[in-house]
Amino acid sequence: MATLDQPPLSLCLIFLTIITLPQFIFTFAKPETYIIHMDSSEMPKAFSSLHSWYSTTLSSISSSKLVYAYTNAIHGFSAVLTSSQLENIKNSPGYISSIKDMTVKVDTTHTYQFLGLNSNHGVWPVSNYGKDVIIGVVDTGVWPESRSYHDHGMSDVPSRWKGKCESGTQFNSTMCNKKLIGARYFNRGLLANNPNLTISMNSARDTEGHGTHTSSTAAGSFVEGASFFGYASGTARGMAPKAHVAMYKALWDEGAYVSDLLAAIDQAIMDGVDVLSLSLGIDGLALYADPIAIATFSAMEKKIFVSASAGNEGPYLRSLHNGTPWVLNVAAGTIDRVFQGTLTLGNGVSATGYSLYLGNFSSCEFPIVFLGACENVTSLGSAAAHKIVVCLDRNDTLTEQVNNVGKAKFVGGVFISNNTDLASFQTSFPAVFFKVDEGRKILEYINNDSEPKASMRFKETLLGAKSAPKLAFYSSRGPSPSCPYVLKPDIMAPGHQVLASWSPNSPVADVVSGPLFSPFNIISGTSMSCPHVAGVAALLKAVYPDWSTAAIRSAMMTTANPLDNTQKPIGDTAKGYGVATPLGMGAGQVDPNRALDPGLVYDASAQDYVNLICAMNYTRKQIQTIIRSNYNCSNPSIDLNYPAFVALYDPLEERTTKTQRFQRTVTNVGDGAATYKVKVKRPKDSVITISPEKLVFGKKNEKLRFALAIRYKTYREYVINQGSITWVEEKGNHSVRSPIVVTPTNTSL
Ligand SMILES: *[C@@H]1O[C@H](CO)[C@@H](O)[C@H](O)[C@H]1NC(C)=O
Ligand SMILES: *[C@@H]1O[C@H](CO)[C@@H](O)[C@H](O)[C@H]1NC(C)=O
Ligand SMILES: *[C@@H]1O[C@H](CO)[C@@H](O)[C@H](O)[C@H]1NC(C)=O
Ligand SMILES: *[C@@H]1O[C@H](CO)[C@@H](O)[C@H](O)[C@H]1NC(C)=O
Ligand SMILES: *[C@@H]1O[C@H](CO)[C@@H](O)[C@H](O)[C@H]1NC(C)=O
Ligand SMILES: *[C@@H]1O[C@H](CO)[C@@H](O)[C@H](O)[C@H]1NC(C)=O
Ligand SMILES: *[C@@H]1O[C@H](CO)[C@@H](O)[C@H](O)[C@H]1NC(C)=O
Ligand SMILES: *[C@@H]1O[C@H](CO)[C@@H](O)[C@H](O)[C@H]1NC(C)=O
Ligand SMILES: *[C@@H]1O[C@H](CO)[C@@H](O)[C@H](O)[C@H]1NC(C)=O
Ligand SMILES: *[C@@H]1O[C@H](CO)[C@@H](O)[C@H](O)[C@H]1NC(C)=O
Repeated sequence: MATLDQPPLSLCLIFLTIITLPQFIFTFAKPETYIIHMDSSEMPKAFSSLHSWYSTTLSSISSSKLVYAYTNAIHGFSAVLTSSQLENIKNSPGYISSIKDMTVKVDTTHTYQFLGLNSNHGVWPVSNYGKDVIIGVVDTGVWPESRSYHDHGMSDVPSRWKGKCESGTQFNSTMCNKKLIGARYFNRGLLANNPNLTISMNSARDTEGHGTHTSSTAAGSFVEGASFFGYASGTARGMAPKAHVAMYKALWDEGAYVSDLLAAIDQAIMDGVDVLSLSLGIDGLALYADPIAIATFSAMEKKIFVSASAGNEGPYLRSLHNGTPWVLNVAAGTIDRVFQGTLTLGNGVSATGYSLYLGNFSSCEFPIVFLGACENVTSLGSAAAHKIVVCLDRNDTLTEQVNNVGKAKFVGGVFISNNTDLASFQTSFPAVFFKVDEGRKILEYINNDSEPKASMRFKETLLGAKSAPKLAFYSSRGPSPSCPYVLKPDIMAPGHQVLASWSPNSPVADVVSGPLFSPFNIISGTSMSCPHVAGVAALLKAVYPDWSTAAIRSAMMTTANPLDNTQKPIGDTAKGYGVATPLGMGAGQVDPNRALDPGLVYDASAQDYVNLICAMNYTRKQIQTIIRSNYNCSNPSIDLNYPAFVALYDPLEERTTKTQRFQRTVTNVGDGAATYKVKVKRPKDSVITISPEKLVFGKKNEKLRFALAIRYKTYREYVINQGSITWVEEKGNHSVRSPIVVTPTNTSL
């Protein structure tokens, strides 16, 4: 577990409990759960199935039973073993490698318009809203009664579907329908690790809300009149409103383990999902040690598109998880919707600021007092009765001030601050947040008036806010610790303050009057951006069922937008970061309509990923753990055919000039002949050469190669420089953009 970054300040991020690994001193002789990778090609002929081979292998050394036998996500099994039993397993025929079971980190009415989705033209009508595509979501379960899962207008369950609707506590198999076509749950690993645990909701029902939110973001049905306490009312719908959803619950209120997660992915592959959405990850593991990387390799081989969250550990470099070449890694951005509150002063002047307060508020005027930085809890307490307090954040202590005011029981709080993330503060008491410039008139009024008064109003929503999107400060950053040669994250999607369905028994906020409940919730994180892209992938799958996962990813990346809605480069909300770089947002904001018609794609096959793995100086066993026995390492190459270019340097080395060379192949997926010319934006202190600079395609599906070299200066400091190349179609309208980044890193895991 390498990332130990500070958690983000925002009060509305979602994290499930992260349980640290048990300390070895308590586990001296105690058996533990292990995941064992086996070479299926070494199964003796006497066995009829992998399952019986695994059982026999285990029973020869231990009386314990298999926790799971895996057949799709990995080849192998999980079991509870003592350390000496594990040593015996290591000597069994077919053993490749093993890891100890570990815990997993769990990291929309308006977002669809912001992404340009429209019923009249573009990818929605062309894909028929994702009809017949199946999105599998591995998460905390689902609230099947949510209106997002109604199935009016849904097509029949595809006949190829092998999934199931499992019944369990408060979950009847009749609760699935043509929208929610599968619901399964996995907790044998959780129970193996915690033998005496009682699971409070032993079924696919979501008691937390997260899985209901992510799955409805990806593929929720149209829901008229969705509203969240008066904020953001409208019609709610997922990205692919006619795609089918299958929920695989592997994340529990009581904990989340890799052994269960693998079982969920194993089953999803077997059931026949087309897209997998994984809003979770494990930090700090090499590809061969990361069970999610290994399981998603199998998914990729079966053309299952995997969207995975980058994590919420930004803005620090190398903080992301799921930096796996064969999945799409998604960063979180803001949207152009702002939640507001208004303060009306006694002199009639109004000021509108940010507010996410969900409770009701009196329309009365109250005395308003200015108490400086609101840092003295004693003086706050004595001033509080029936007053609105104004605090000026001189020293970047806003979170503390909000806590102080909350405890002191004022009727309302007004916070004036330079903090860049004012829009994210969700408070339990009535509060409005102002930028320093806008707060000035409030302070002037209080200074001027002998009896200053004010009233407050809440639940106002501003649409079309500028500038948006911006990269969320907490979105985890590249380069990928496990494979820095391939750009991660790949793309950005809405993740900040996303409205989607929720479990109505899980509180959405705690206000003065007590906890609040709602069928919808607004939450933030890369957990929310990941299902947006899973939904877009479903739309593209509906249109291009034969495309590889790499082609679909390329279509999204090369058409992503690096500019915001003021046509300026997308900004970064992390303090002092300015413009976002590809290490934060990948190629830019996903643009579903443009992704429908990319012109050219950078394709990659399973063998291409194998060639990359083979070039990473892993041992034979480590390689085999990922690729199993179907491939060989005859052509190792670190240079994957990817729609992005990364040049690395080590800031601990002397300054110098380096050259990084790339070979790329692009496939013409446009209609017929086309000619493209390259346009280059070079990173600072770099020279880019491309050969040839013109690509002439005679027909559809033709492939052409080009070479690109980056000659770049290195630094002793952590300097990141960015640029891009764009293949621009002559006499056509396609433009195919790839980001370039020159970045520091100190080697991979
Ligand atoms: C499931 O629903 C069906 C139909 O509503 C009902 O007949 C059956 O009793 C239910 N089963 C359980 C276990 O609740
Ligand atoms: C589980 O319960 C059994 C029987 O009550 C007890 O002996 C054992 O110590 C418990 N184990 C743990 C890990 O708490
Ligand atoms: C706010 O007022 C509305 C309308 O009177 C009411 O339905 C709602 O329950 C109130 N909310 C709270 C948190 O008291
Ligand atoms: C806090 O306010 C109280 C009451 O106004 C005052 O007595 C005390 O000195 C203040 N403390 C600090 C640290 O300023
Ligand atoms: C806000 O930032 C500006 C510019 O950096 C600075 O001049 C000002 O003093 C800051 N205001 C507060 C209240 O911190
Ligand atoms: C700001 O914080 C620093 C360090 O904690 C402290 O020394 C200083 O007095 C603070 N300034 C104000 C205006 O509170
Ligand atoms: C403050 O008072 C002065 C003099 O009475 C007046 O000119 C000014 O407009 C007032 N400012 C505010 C913000 O009320
Ligand atoms: C593999 O090891 C060789 C020799 O040490 C080194 O030159 C090369 O850069 C390494 N490759 C990677 C991908 O780490
Ligand atoms: C390795 O795989 C390639 C592509 O599948 C195949 O052409 C080649 O014969 C294989 N080489 C060996 C030594 O198995
Ligand atoms: C390119 O132009 C054609 C014909 O005008 C149009 O149908 C298509 O949507 C355009 N594509 C893009 C990516 O703008």
